[in-house]
Amino acid sequence: MCGIVGYIGNQNALPILLKGLEHLEYRGYDSAGVACLNHQKDSLFVIKEKGKLSALKEQLKGIHLLSNAGIGHTRWATHGEPSRANAHPHTDPHNRIALIHNGIIENYSSLKSDLRRKGVRFRSETDTEVAVHMIASFYKKGNLTEAFRKAVEKLHGFFAFVVLSKDEPGQLLAFKRSNPLAIGLGDGENFIASDVTAFLPYTNRVLYLEDDEFAVVTREKVTITSLKTGKVVNRKPSTIRWSISQAQKGGYPHFMLKEIFEQPRVLEETISKRLRKGENIFFDTLSKKIDRKFKKIQKIYLVSCGTAYHAGLVGNYMLGKYVRIPVEATVSSEFRYEDPVIGSKDLVILITQSGETADTLAALRLAKEKKALTLAIVNVVGSTIARDADAMIYTQAGPEIGVASTKAYTAQLETLLLFTLYLARLRKTINADDFSKLLREFKKIPGYAAAVLKQAKAIETCARKHYHRRNFLYLGRGYNFPTALEGALKLKEISYAHAHGYAAGEMKHGPIALIDHEQPVICIAPESKTYDKMISNIEEIRAREGIVIAIGTEKDKNLMSLADDFFSIPKTHEVFSSILTVLVLQLFAYKVAVLNGRDVDQPRNLAKSVTVE
Ligand code: F6R
Repeated sequence: MCGIVGYIGNQNALPILLKGLEHLEYRGYDSAGVACLNHQKDSLFVIKEKGKLSALKEQLKGIHLLSNAGIGHTRWATHGEPSRANAHPHTDPHNRIALIHNGIIENYSSLKSDLRRKGVRFRSETDTEVAVHMIASFYKKGNLTEAFRKAVEKLHGFFAFVVLSKDEPGQLLAFKRSNPLAIGLGDGENFIASDVTAFLPYTNRVLYLEDDEFAVVTREKVTITSLKTGKVVNRKPSTIRWSISQAQKGGYPHFMLKEIFEQPRVLEETISKRLRKGENIFFDTLSKKIDRKFKKIQKIYLVSCGTAYHAGLVGNYMLGKYVRIPVEATVSSEFRYEDPVIGSKDLVILITQSGETADTLAALRLAKEKKALTLAIVNVVGSTIARDADAMIYTQAGPEIGVASTKAYTAQLETLLLFTLYLARLRKTINADDFSKLLREFKKIPGYAAAVLKQAKAIETCARKHYHRRNFLYLGRGYNFPTALEGALKLKEISYAHAHGYAAGEMKHGPIALIDHEQPVICIAPESKTYDKMISNIEEIRAREGIVIAIGTEKDKNLMSLADDFFSIPKTHEVFSSILTVLVLQLFAYKVAVLNGRDVDQPRNLAKSVTVE
């Protein structure tokens, strides 16, 4: 979490930093701050404010500062409450050095005690402040890089730092361990940021820092050095192909709504890029060598967090059915600590939008340590998990800015299904006929998704009836049990109402006690092999006067007659249904949140990229 940005060049730094922070606010918005070189006064200008970036901008009104180097930060609080004192940048007592940080310094407490004994006075409750005092304690004029290196060597944990000093004004220093840092290469100017969106309006040429690397960034040059070897690293820049307009709202009131409506296009592009001559699935990032390994694996683990975990659960059903191999879907934070029984015959699939989630990254490292084959299904190009896994498939959803994941989720489902069919062909567990039939149907899914979204008005009407309620139950079976979990997660994270997803068959084992005339139950019941069982569950809800909001297959008169509100998906094979049913639930959550006046794109306490444990 936390977004960090740095600029050095020939333009005015402050507006560039603020623009960059706008793009990074999804990473946290508990406070924001900037530090710029004030050339006239030979000092650092530092300003910070509690709350969102808008509060900082308010503070900056009327301030005209000309500076060509600076750093900026948007915080997701870990150590110390959201406050101005805890906001970054943090500075040394003489205001010579300013530092911004994303991550956690795990041994900060003992370092803080040592520094206190030496007379250092702390002005915040953060772990970060320790880092700047450590640098200051090693600093003698002219040796900032050396002092930074010495300080970093003493720190445990995972972090990305950027440092600016008035004494060495021609450079920014950066260091990365676990948390991401990208360097944007401009013409006579350079940028540093947690995520390329912060500098994409200026350049699409990027150098990604690897773990334990330092960068000295001047306006003309970037020098990367490895902490371990002390040697200079030569790395070729990558080019980012998507544009900043793809990451802007395009006329929608919220990024989330824009991203919901982008799904038919994303689904279309994902399929068309993966089909060769329309008949075969191919992944340009998978080699023959990896294919040979895929043929030999004996078990698959799907490891991920939050929404991506729900995608993993759907993948569990898909892979089990078509590849006929044991599959286990688990959350990364459990997997990494449960001492999993994995080895070289296992495939561990990491599913992640950001490619930076701390627990998923740790799960990847554990799987590699245990010699399992690792495959990352990732959205953010060049992210740490994408780079570190043995093999990788991009989900091609484009930048997702809304904190609540929507298009990245359906792109994950689609990619998992494409991968399932690919693996089933490779391992010969599906015959050519069934494969072609499924592919033919697959190609219709983007059109079906557009049809589902046409119900937006009706979904809004339903949301108006229920937005004041504080408890919602979501039920589904098979491929749509994870949809129930995902629908509930969407609602609670953006509307703050309590919502619980359940496997419908479990209802009678407890949740049925909740049902009365005030309890809305969202029942996901498209055509499937468990359809009749779902209908029985719905009858049980009605018998107890529960409010039934049903999602089923179009023209399902039976279901319509049982439901207070009914939304449909086109008739399709059940393996595709979860890609479509979830669209209704995303829109429902969105509408409920808007009607409650919630901050949809930046819900409280959340951040888009969870780079802490
Ligand atoms: C919910 C949501 C989160 C993420 C989770 C994993 O809408 O977005 O639950 O799915 O934090 O993030 P990634 O996919 O980046 O690993």
